[in-house]
Amino acid sequence: MDRVEVRNLEVTYGNRTVLAVDRVSFERGGFYGIVGPSGAGKSTLLRIMNLLERPVSGQLHLFGTEVDLTSLSYAKGLPLQRQMGFVAQKPSMFQASVYDNVALGLRYRKKSRMEMQALVEEALELVELSHVRDQRANTLSGGEAQRIALARTLVCDPSLLLLDEPTASLDPYNISIFERVIQTIHRQKQTTILMITHNLPQARRLAQTCLFVNNGRIVERSDTEAFFHRPRCTELADFISGRMIC
Ligand SMILES: Nc1ncnc2c1ncn2[C@@H]1O[C@H](COP(=O)(O)OP(=O)(O)OP(=O)(O)O)[C@@H](O)[C@H]1O
Ligand SMILES: [Mg+2]
Repeated sequence: MDRVEVRNLEVTYGNRTVLAVDRVSFERGGFYGIVGPSGAGKSTLLRIMNLLERPVSGQLHLFGTEVDLTSLSYAKGLPLQRQMGFVAQKPSMFQASVYDNVALGLRYRKKSRMEMQALVEEALELVELSHVRDQRANTLSGGEAQRIALARTLVCDPSLLLLDEPTASLDPYNISIFERVIQTIHRQKQTTILMITHNLPQARRLAQTCLFVNNGRIVERSDTEAFFHRPRCTELADFISGRMIC
C-alpha cells in the first residue's frame, strides 16, 4: 500500500474521547486540507500521526510499514518519524544560528559536512532566507522564523509533511512565500501533504482533497471543489458559511 492510513483510532484525555476515526487514508503525493471548528481534534490527529502521543487504540500504515500506535516504542517509531516533517503554528527555534537550526535533522542523520552544507543552503534558498544564514535564530521575525521552521523540516526530505496551521500568524507576504514553497515541494517531490487550516480560501487554493473534522470525527471528505460548493452534510455547510456555532 503506497499510502498513509490510520485505522481504529481512539484518543481520550481523562474519560473524554476527543478523537474516534475508523479509517482514514491519504494517497502518496496527495495534498489534503483539514478543516473544522476549534477543539474538533485536528491537531490531535496530526500529533498522533507524528508519533508525538500514543492513543488508546489505533494502527498507522506509513508507505508500506504497519505499526500499532498504542504499543509503539520510541526506537521502533524513530524510522517512521524520520519520514515525516511537522510544522506547527508557532516555530520554536534552538538557541543557535539559523544554519545550525536548519542543519539539526541532518546532524542526527549523520550526514557529511559537505552534504549538510549543500542541503542547508538549498533549503534556505527555497524559503528565500539565504541572507539570514548566520543570524541567531531567536532574533528572527515571526514570519522569518516560520519559514526557517519549514526549511528545517524540508531539508530532511520528508515523504509526509504535516502542517498544523503553519501560516495562522503570518502576514500576507510570508503566507504567499510559505504557500509557494509547499506547492513547489509538492510538485517536485510528490510529498504527501496534510495541512490544517482555518483559512478556508487557503484550503481551496492548495488542497486537492479536503476533510472536515467535527466533534472528534471525520464527518466529510471530498475533492476540494465539491467540498466547498456541494457539501453533503449540514454541519459542513454551516461551517463553511459561518453559521456553525462552536
Ligand atoms: N493534553 C491534553 N489534555 C487534555 N485535553 C486535551 C489535550 N490535548 C487536547 N485536548 C483536548 O482535545 C480536544 C481536541 O483538541 P485539538 O487541539 O486536537 O483541537 P483542534 O481541532 O486542533 O482545535 P484548534 O482549531 O483550536 O487548534 C480539545 O477539546 C482539547 O481541549
Ligand atoms: Mg489545533
